[in-house]
Amino acid sequence: MILTTLAAAVALAVTPAPSAAGAAVARADKDRAADIVAAMTLEEKCLLVAGHEDGFHTQAIARLGVPSVRMADGPQGVRNDTRSTYYPCGMSIASSWNREVAANVGVGIGTDARARGVGVMLCPGVNIYRSALCGRNFEYYGEDPYLASEIAVSYIEGIQSRGVISTIKHFALNNQEYHRYEVSSDADERTINEIYFPAFRKAVEVAHVGAVMTSYNPVNHVHAAENPWLIRDNLRAWGHEGIVMSDWSSTYTTLGCMEGGLDLEMPEGVVLNYGYIKPLIDRGVVSESLLDEKCRNILATFIHFGFLDYPVKDESIPEDCDLSRRYAYEAALEGPVLLKNDGILPIRASRRNDIVVLGPNADLIPFGGGSGEMFPFPERVTTLYGGLQRLGRGYQVSLTDWKNPDFDALARASAIIFAAGFNHDCEREGSDRTYDLPEGQNEAIAKIAAVNPNVIVVANSGGEFDICPWKDSVRAILLAWYGGQETGRALASIISGQVSPSGKLPFTWWGALDKNPSSAFYYPCQPYDSPKRWRDFRYTAYQEGVFVGYRGVREFGVEPEYPFGYGLSYAQFEYSDLSVSAVPDGLDVSFRITNTGSCTAQETAQLYVSPVSPSLPRPERELKGFDKIELAPGKSGSVTLHLGKDAFEHYDTASHSWKSDSGAYIIRVGASSSDIRLETTISK
Ligand code: BGC
Repeated sequence: MILTTLAAAVALAVTPAPSAAGAAVARADKDRAADIVAAMTLEEKCLLVAGHEDGFHTQAIARLGVPSVRMADGPQGVRNDTRSTYYPCGMSIASSWNREVAANVGVGIGTDARARGVGVMLCPGVNIYRSALCGRNFEYYGEDPYLASEIAVSYIEGIQSRGVISTIKHFALNNQEYHRYEVSSDADERTINEIYFPAFRKAVEVAHVGAVMTSYNPVNHVHAAENPWLIRDNLRAWGHEGIVMSDWSSTYTTLGCMEGGLDLEMPEGVVLNYGYIKPLIDRGVVSESLLDEKCRNILATFIHFGFLDYPVKDESIPEDCDLSRRYAYEAALEGPVLLKNDGILPIRASRRNDIVVLGPNADLIPFGGGSGEMFPFPERVTTLYGGLQRLGRGYQVSLTDWKNPDFDALARASAIIFAAGFNHDCEREGSDRTYDLPEGQNEAIAKIAAVNPNVIVVANSGGEFDICPWKDSVRAILLAWYGGQETGRALASIISGQVSPSGKLPFTWWGALDKNPSSAFYYPCQPYDSPKRWRDFRYTAYQEGVFVGYRGVREFGVEPEYPFGYGLSYAQFEYSDLSVSAVPDGLDVSFRITNTGSCTAQETAQLYVSPVSPSLPRPERELKGFDKIELAPGKSGSVTLHLGKDAFEHYDTASHSWKSDSGAYIIRVGASSSDIRLETTISK
């Protein structure tokens, strides 16, 4: 077997075969991995379980045909020493509510990775949006576990279809960046299972994700990378047979990493190295079989993805790939959410158009900061101003300084587009951000709106921010997230009405920071008596429990400014003909949607399930299905959403399993979590 491996390594085929990547690791992959591990020395095993000191490679065991595999961040493209296609951020993909968009971005990223010889992509990030303040919200998929799971599965399947390992992160409960290394995220078992685990679990069960990255924060006082409850009792129990790697420098003890279930310490072997592991084995503190287990997991995954048989780098793929760019553009079209529009949008071509563009993000590509940064940018990028200029005839567009504008000129403009928001310096990994827009933007918008009411705010952010100072004095608000290299082209298509906006909020826009159910428990973090080096550790208790985001609307009696699932379109839609039918593995919920507007547009229909008399406190409604449909004016289409058994379940802590109450459930279908158009009650 070893000889076969060696022979294969010598005669690497030119074109890899990614076909097996969508399936679970096969028995044959495991057997081959076991054979290699049996031939490895202790030193070699210790090399394999830690990254190379350059930060983004695993270590090769050349003697046995095991290559060094290159890794790169994610999630907005292939990062680390390369210019590559810059896709919209995670929150933008989630707000598309479009599985195909997520899958195509994944395919694009996987393709770009192969072009650069990257075998492991460090994405997606699926930590739940718990507060507007988390500096990394932009990378993630919002507040709902079902939406996050569906988007994650499609994105992962896309990446892995190209023969590249996807790494879902950060496992688990990395919901703030504030003191992320020292603050333990403490939540109860039911909350973790119902809210914070599902996207990881679906990634394992449905997409067979190749790798999982643990988080920086401890979970219930135990470091995630050394947490057997997270890794062994849950992740492995769901069937994860791939790699479990640490986040970069989040390991503390050799024993904890040996026993907890971690396979790979990144970026290098600070605690998992020969010098520390050998004495533990020699003294009988740990068995070498624990090390073998890690090596087998890593190797079986690499074998499954073909890394021992084919070069990861596919020379036939151009680095600046047109298909990838197309996917980046299509995704950028579907993310933006129109929060407010009194009719000023769209701006149709007209000789009277005299549009002034200004604001801190008017003529640059804004992006969230940290390991997800796609800097330096790819060759071809289009800013908002650039995109509007390209509209050409019927659009006279000029750019001006937002800090010191000529107010007389502004007063004469037919429309003013203020490009507001955050950027990598103020919304980023490693710290939380403010709720207010930075740099005096609120004052600037208010002053401009006072001389000319025709203001459209286009805003870049990864989550909610304070719009109260000016929301009533502007005519439209378009939330653009961080749209990637094609953001300007996409926004210009939306602003000009070539394409109707179709994004919907993947979180609740509360309208005030303290309305969010988590806000009372977010700060301060209490200190706790911790052993050894955890002396300075603190914890934050997730006391809102399962009532995160819109799940807390009824429970806490707060009305949001814009509900979860909300987003305006240039068209209007009517819902009709709801029917529910029993099918062998659950229920099919069918209905019709009609475009009663005057332009072609997409609508995302959402299905919420509410137990009428639950046996324990449960969210009043939970998203359990959605679909996006494009309709020409006057046309209707039918939608069928399937509800499986899990759509009715809650997590039962007594039995540590999922249970469902029999009785009545309300099935609601609508355009957002509060704009319910059809409903019926069923009995189970
Ligand atoms: C981040 C990870 C990232 C890693 C490598 C860490 O700081 O938390 O998400 O993948 O760095 O860049």
